[in-house]
Amino acid sequence: MLNFDNMPVKPAKSTAENASPGFAAVPAAAKIQSVSTVASTAADTESLPVLSFEPSTPSVNMNAGASNMQTKELKPGATGLEEIAFKAARVRVDDKKIINCRADVNQLVPFKYEWAWQKYLDACANHWMPQEISMSRDIALWKDPNGLSPDERQIIKRNLGFFVTADSLVANNLVLAIYRHITNPECRQYLLRQAFEEALHTHAYQYIVESLGLDEGEIFNMYREIPSIHEKDAFQLQFTSELADPNFSTGTFAADQRLLRNLIGYYIIMEGIFFYVGFVQMLSFGRQNKMTGASEQFQYILRDESMHLNYGIDVINQIKNENPHLWTAEFQQEIIELIKQGVDLEYRYAEDTMPRGVLGLNCQMFSEYLRFIANRRCRQIGLTEQFPGAKNPFPWMSEMLDLKKEKNFFETRVIEYQTGGALSWD
Ligand SMILES: [Fe+2]
Ligand SMILES: [Fe+2]
Repeated sequence: MLNFDNMPVKPAKSTAENASPGFAAVPAAAKIQSVSTVASTAADTESLPVLSFEPSTPSVNMNAGASNMQTKELKPGATGLEEIAFKAARVRVDDKKIINCRADVNQLVPFKYEWAWQKYLDACANHWMPQEISMSRDIALWKDPNGLSPDERQIIKRNLGFFVTADSLVANNLVLAIYRHITNPECRQYLLRQAFEEALHTHAYQYIVESLGLDEGEIFNMYREIPSIHEKDAFQLQFTSELADPNFSTGTFAADQRLLRNLIGYYIIMEGIFFYVGFVQMLSFGRQNKMTGASEQFQYILRDESMHLNYGIDVINQIKNENPHLWTAEFQQEIIELIKQGVDLEYRYAEDTMPRGVLGLNCQMFSEYLRFIANRRCRQIGLTEQFPGAKNPFPWMSEMLDLKKEKNFFETRVIEYQTGGALSWD
């Protein structure tokens, strides 16, 4: 079985070997190829994430590069705001850390976290735009009074209602909360790409709403009106609010744990659990040859989100590796409780979107599925599975990301983007 939320990752290039001679010599062991991403063909029953972190010299200087000049005292996690250390020593790969480091103007190389740079490249190669997908069949079906049942229409509207504000919540969290605390330029490079993709996703949902002529007020206000959507959003917002406080900075045990909690809240629970009932439901339409345009939009989004999730897992595990003292038994228990709460909230969402069985799906299947993916999420960040024996009732979800099988959908478009980037002045 293919692993749908571990995207194929091209072999990482040793980019730092090719770094400008201006950089200090980079010991190969210092570069981190991957922290936790499991090979794309790993089965859903995979073992624990593979750890290939090779610790290098641990003597990282938070104020690296600033040693020969006086700078004002810096708050960790506020990199980019410091004075430039003019005439300071050149930045070495060993100076880099994922949090609590100085990155000043985001000097991208020498690379330390190859996985982050590779994900940035892969994400760019997967570029797509919502309006390139034809919605004409969806429009005809939606306008046909007998085209879809009331239950099917409710699933579509409620999913649009959740997602149209979910991705902007994620984008807000990236920009307003976590970006300034992730103190590594190649990780920030991916965050910038991810933020753009979240904008594209919001665009895609808006485009579907507009194409189908839905009541925009109804769809865009569901987070205020539908209890399960409101609860999911409110659950996430707590994590953003904690970090968006202008007085918050990393560098203490409690603050670093809070950052980790935010990352787990968004990457593992929001993008790794809260999106999946909706993905299964919307992709099920496409499998029945209904709402094929909307389903295709969601397929593209699923592919992007899988990479967001894997990036988040790598970041979380990297922070754990560099700061093992944060990962206390008490903190692990706190995270487990959050994940379980996430499963409960997502199940309520399944009930709200689909009170009766439809499209070959029912709520009992979602109960099992959520337990299954929660187990995966726990394993991916080194926690014990909480729902032993849970099975995947939707094995076809794994195939949705098999790029080779989706010839028309994925391969052609991706290749078009990869080869069509040259400018033409004709
Ligand atoms: Fe998204
Ligand atoms: Fe995302």
